[in-house]
Amino acid sequence: SAAEKGGYDYFMLKEIAEQPKAVADTLLGRIDPSGSLTLDEVRISPSELREIDKVVIVACGTAFHAGLIAKYAIEHWTRIPCEVELASEFRYRDPILDGHSLVIAISQSGETMDTLMALRHAREQGSKVLAICNTNGSTIPRESDAVLYTHAGPEVAVASTKAFLTQLVACYLVALYLGQVRGTKWGDEIQAVIKDLSRISEEVERVLETMEPVRALARTLASKNTVLFLGRHVGYPVALEGALKLKELAYMHAEGFAAGELKHGPIALIEEDVPVVVVVPSPRGRSVLHDKIVSNIQEIRARGARTIVIAEEGDEAVVPYADHLIRIPATPTLLQPLVATVPLQVFACELATARGNEVDQPRNLAKSVTVE
Ligand code: AGP
Repeated sequence: SAAEKGGYDYFMLKEIAEQPKAVADTLLGRIDPSGSLTLDEVRISPSELREIDKVVIVACGTAFHAGLIAKYAIEHWTRIPCEVELASEFRYRDPILDGHSLVIAISQSGETMDTLMALRHAREQGSKVLAICNTNGSTIPRESDAVLYTHAGPEVAVASTKAFLTQLVACYLVALYLGQVRGTKWGDEIQAVIKDLSRISEEVERVLETMEPVRALARTLASKNTVLFLGRHVGYPVALEGALKLKELAYMHAEGFAAGELKHGPIALIEEDVPVVVVVPSPRGRSVLHDKIVSNIQEIRARGARTIVIAEEGDEAVVPYADHLIRIPATPTLLQPLVATVPLQVFACELATARGNEVDQPRNLAKSVTVE
């Protein structure tokens, strides 16, 4: 009913709007006043966490994209090697696991069969399993050694939005906590990022306030056949997520690429007027990546693509090459997905509406996939 949707036309719109609160709620009580993390729920002792020599993340769909982003954070802040694998592929390839492996299973519903089978396999090999889950008491957390709940609240729309952002928050918390417990040379950076994370829901709110031009742009693209998404570093999984949203909701062909891979094949897809969404890394921090992606934008524009550029406020280098510019607030490099994903959700939702699709219940999809 309209009341359940809180005055929004669709649950998805309501859930997109709830993201600042979902993010804040997921952080609540986990950062203490001194700025360090207390994750008491993670019932794996600090000494066990110090023994871990490998992290393996298993998940499906949007949760898998959160896992891809987590890999950058975990390896950077903890120096522990981290793999991310589609849960449906995991157990069938005889993965190398033992008691020193930490397996993280990410799932909104906690009932995804592929993810459940992957975690059962990991536990059979003696690995510790930590679930990141949004549904209290569901099967995946029940069968795990520990759980870190995301506090997104119930997500009704089939396309995941607020659950994804809170999965990212939970992944950052785990990465920072592992860094904190194990003590790495990034101690100062970890402290600074915890501070930035504690303020990030305000940045998500600011992004939401500037979405009208994104909606207007989406409506002009309703008759397109294909949309491409490019990103680098953590922007690459964001590009994959942007493409998945568009497939699910707008039923359009959409693909995400790592921008550096463009020259190895996908650039052949670029032709007159193809919309290409580019997620630009911050010009601060890893500025080499920024410069490289700016030349990618130049290249695709020279071939006639319609460039839709998502770039940090104050990034002037992209301006000459952007047919459409979407601004996001400056954040630390690794946290950028929390703000960069939001315009892509809005974009897909509006395109679906413009194409007359059922936003909350896309064809052929179920909210939780309980078969393998
Ligand atoms: C998200 O938009 C999708 N509907 C889907 O990819 C989903 O993320 C995937 O099925 C995993 O679900 P889970 O998080 O409940 O395990």
